[in-house]
Amino acid sequence: MPDNIDNLLTETRRFAPDAEFTASAVADAGLYERARADRLGFWADQARGLVSWEKPFTEVLDWSNPPFAKWFADGTLNVAYNCLDRHVEAGRGDRVALHWEGEPGDSRSITYAELTAEVKKAANMLEGLGVRDGDRVVIYMPLIPEAIVAMLAVARVGAIHSVVFGGFSAESIRSRVDDAGAKVLITADGGWRKGVVSPLKPAVDEALDATVHGPSTVEKVVVVKRGGNDVAFTSGRDLWWDDLMQEQAAEHTAQAFEAEHPLFILYTSGTTGKPKGILHTSGGYLTGAAYTHRNVFDLHPETDVYWSTADIGWITGHTYVVYGPLANGATQVIYEGTPDSPVPGRWWDVIEKYGVTIFYAAPTAIRAAMKTGRQIPASRDLSSLRLLGSVGEPINPEAWVWYRDVIGAGATPIVDTWWQTETGSIMISALPGVTTLKPGSAQVPLPGVAVDVVDDHGVPVGDGEGGLLVITEPWPSMLRGIWGDTERFVDTYWSKFGRSVYFAGDGARKDDDGDIWLLGRVDDVMNVSGHRLSTAEIESALVSHPIVAEAAVVGAADETTGQSVVAFVILRASQADTMTPEEAAAALRNHVAHEIGAIAKPRTVMIVQELPKTRSGKIMRRLLRDVAEGREIGDTTTLADTTVMQAIRVG
Ligand code: WT7
Repeated sequence: MPDNIDNLLTETRRFAPDAEFTASAVADAGLYERARADRLGFWADQARGLVSWEKPFTEVLDWSNPPFAKWFADGTLNVAYNCLDRHVEAGRGDRVALHWEGEPGDSRSITYAELTAEVKKAANMLEGLGVRDGDRVVIYMPLIPEAIVAMLAVARVGAIHSVVFGGFSAESIRSRVDDAGAKVLITADGGWRKGVVSPLKPAVDEALDATVHGPSTVEKVVVVKRGGNDVAFTSGRDLWWDDLMQEQAAEHTAQAFEAEHPLFILYTSGTTGKPKGILHTSGGYLTGAAYTHRNVFDLHPETDVYWSTADIGWITGHTYVVYGPLANGATQVIYEGTPDSPVPGRWWDVIEKYGVTIFYAAPTAIRAAMKTGRQIPASRDLSSLRLLGSVGEPINPEAWVWYRDVIGAGATPIVDTWWQTETGSIMISALPGVTTLKPGSAQVPLPGVAVDVVDDHGVPVGDGEGGLLVITEPWPSMLRGIWGDTERFVDTYWSKFGRSVYFAGDGARKDDDGDIWLLGRVDDVMNVSGHRLSTAEIESALVSHPIVAEAAVVGAADETTGQSVVAFVILRASQADTMTPEEAAAALRNHVAHEIGAIAKPRTVMIVQELPKTRSGKIMRRLLRDVAEGREIGDTTTLADTTVMQAIRVG
């Protein structure tokens, strides 16, 4: 994103913390000193202070065999107990855990006592269906309270959840079900999106259809009623959530599991066509989630109303909707629908309705709101807000300043939080009340986190220079592996600079103060609206269509979504004459939506005669990106056929 980079390098605005904010801030500058003086001791303090252990740990970190870390390994805990029962036992059962807002305007507020009771019943339900510790459960749901109940119930019985984003296709569900060997799948009839019920259950039926894909490992499908849409039921396999829940005993004792017991798998796109099942475990993950949620968001659980707009299908929904806020006993808002349903400004209505104080969203949504104009948020009362967060992609300084001025009344701190599915929790961010803010920069590693920017040989770059982002010391919420693929885990993250340095896949730059500015991915991974998409995965979806001979996909800079998907496709000779390029492009866009999900749909499909390749046959995506972004085409001297680009240009 070169436009963005220019913009970043010239940004000089600074926002010092407000004295009043600092006076009551959760974090203080001393955290950095304490972490620097004794990093492992610091993490041990966080783990003891923020998490309740059934059996206290004595060992903090075992890093004797990198990259296989063990944190707090001899301690035991139950993650769901930490998010639920302990708050009730401490007399906070009447505090609202979730203010849920449905898209059509229905709503429910659920206290910690009520949420605990639901999760206990759901845990009994899962055990009744034969789910045991270590079993995998796939969750494919809209953002409704039952989705969170399901995740916590899985965690409570020591099983492993794999949440599949509700926008993903049947194909995507099936590949995740198969990869994880899931025993149970929890879904809903449908959920509300953009003013209509978007069905979910049909995708599950298609995914599990034995006549198409062969038999699956899924024994039972539990269906929550939400959309009210008609659904097919497979007898012996499908069960209604409500029917099962009614039969369950109210009591369920949470058993403690080892700190390294697996908690969840979450699939994310990589450089190959096959998504990676990122594995997180219990004690370290929960420590990272709770610590970052408390300090980065300056959480005062007695008074704050926190809202992260993320869906539970992404890591932000896991760490900053489910585990972080609930472990910290926060009151939060969750909202089922889109920002502009039924009217533009629905998000701001939700903030006004619940008096949201802390708001966490993606730059793409901020830029979309900028486009529709400041009068929309200005007509709502947003005065409850006192802290704003950003995540998923670099936030350009203009959007940052607009966010602060228009949403934050020109006064709230903004935390630009860099992290990944793999890191489990925020790694780089300002601390509100402590850090002087720079729009466009994620700035500094959190206390306890060791980050650097290095050159191709792994040598740290100096201030004012750019390179590759790495994490140089293990951290509690780090991924523990890729499900079923240890080799890929080591190769992808821990081999570029040796087995104890984590390679993040992002380019970054240190400014003259040593602060970090993120510059986007350095691999063939795109970032569209803060979601990671793989060029290879979309290419393989395209070539699975019978009319396609060859395809190449690039991420092109996009004003609103950061990047957007642009595909270059060569049709099979037999097809080229029977369809217009427009018809072919439309068919292929729909095909990608069907194969992967609507989020992966190319913005543009260009039908071309040839693709630019090097003499060794490698597609030169750099040149395609030039075309997609309407730029002068760069150096073509390494092309096998230097006339190809001309053909693409005019073709
Ligand atoms: C990739 C991780 C972390 C939750 C959402 C995405 C990009 C994320 C930032 C930020 C610049 C960011 C990186 C990273 N990214 N946050 N604040 N500034 N870039 O999670 O799908 O695992 O994607 O998102 O490129 O590698 P994810």
